[in-house]
Amino acid sequence: MFTPEEFTKAIINEIRGLEIRCAVAAVSGGVDSTTSAVITRLAINDKLIPVLFDTGFMRINEPVEVIESLRGLLPIRLIDVREEFYRAMMGLSDAEEKRVRFRDTFYSALSKLVRDNGCDWLVQGTIAPDWIETVGGIKTQHNVLAQIGIETDRVYGFKLLEPLRELYKDQVRALARFLGVPVSIVDRQPFPGPGLSIRAVGLLTMEKLNVVKWSTKIVENGLANLGLSQWFAAAWEDERVYDEELSRRVKDLGRGLTVETFKVKGTGVKGDSREYGRIAVVSGELNRWGVVFNLYPRLTYGTDITHVIYEVSNGGVKGGKFFVTIRAVTTSDYMTADVPKLGRDILIKVAEELAKNDSVSSIGFDVTPKPPATIEFE
Ligand code: XMP
Repeated sequence: MFTPEEFTKAIINEIRGLEIRCAVAAVSGGVDSTTSAVITRLAINDKLIPVLFDTGFMRINEPVEVIESLRGLLPIRLIDVREEFYRAMMGLSDAEEKRVRFRDTFYSALSKLVRDNGCDWLVQGTIAPDWIETVGGIKTQHNVLAQIGIETDRVYGFKLLEPLRELYKDQVRALARFLGVPVSIVDRQPFPGPGLSIRAVGLLTMEKLNVVKWSTKIVENGLANLGLSQWFAAAWEDERVYDEELSRRVKDLGRGLTVETFKVKGTGVKGDSREYGRIAVVSGELNRWGVVFNLYPRLTYGTDITHVIYEVSNGGVKGGKFFVTIRAVTTSDYMTADVPKLGRDILIKVAEELAKNDSVSSIGFDVTPKPPATIEFE
């Protein structure tokens, strides 16, 4: 059985048994990377250099807020690598390409930092589901290297220390609480390593990224304190094609329901493998709100559809170019996830806020659990 006390004792022993000149810890402010750094610091004290990379793909003000909240526990250095990341990532469209490019840029920057500081180890917050999903081919998790055969020593010049690699999220949270990590971090919703680059779905541009940053703030505030596991916004070009066959599948659930599919694609899991398929959007009046949660099996069964979105803002807001989706899930292990039964009113309230941005054309709510969708869109 897992207990934080025993785990801490065992890991500190294990780390002290390693030959470490010095180690850099890449902290994102998420519970995994923060807890990894905190536990490693207990073992090697000042031989640990905790850093936070501002990649430009974090939320508004996030880097500074994270460093502030950990003052006292971890002396984190902020490293501005925005330009490097924008240069490497802007213009990419494919989900896996973004993930791979992010990972390469991230580790090149880290490798330079490790070298510049004369260190030989990198500490990171990989946990069990990260490598299980990457090894299983579901997606390239940005922080999984050793488990897929990348020899970090040879390629990047550091050895990898992953103290939490066998733990699941709830165990990491229990450990973080035990180690005195602030509640704001322990209870923080997970955030993908490649950050908002994979929530600006499809072609990555500065304009789309800015819409995602702004929408993230509104959705995170609008759906706070509802007991959700993860809730956020994603955006993409509002370019759709009407699909007659799919529209027929949902006809009886409302009046004049239409199904369109977007030009961008989204990721899902079907069976045990990853799928990169179409995203469907349903518009029109439902018989009653509750049936919104019955839409997805009709549209994903036997098709390549990975996400089903219900258009909340009804017909759209004039002028803008980006469709913004509200995503919310409840889950305990993030390997599967449910869509919470949110009321229509709260979604409309958030949608009204989102519609204030001139770049936004319309707003939807993703009603697809994992599987067949993934929590993220890329
Ligand atoms: P998916 O989209 O695969 O996401 O259902 C499952 C959980 O993992 C998070 N996620 C990531 N976390 N690096 C991370 O550290 C990544 O590259 C990454 N991609 C997805 C996602 O936010 C969700 O909590």
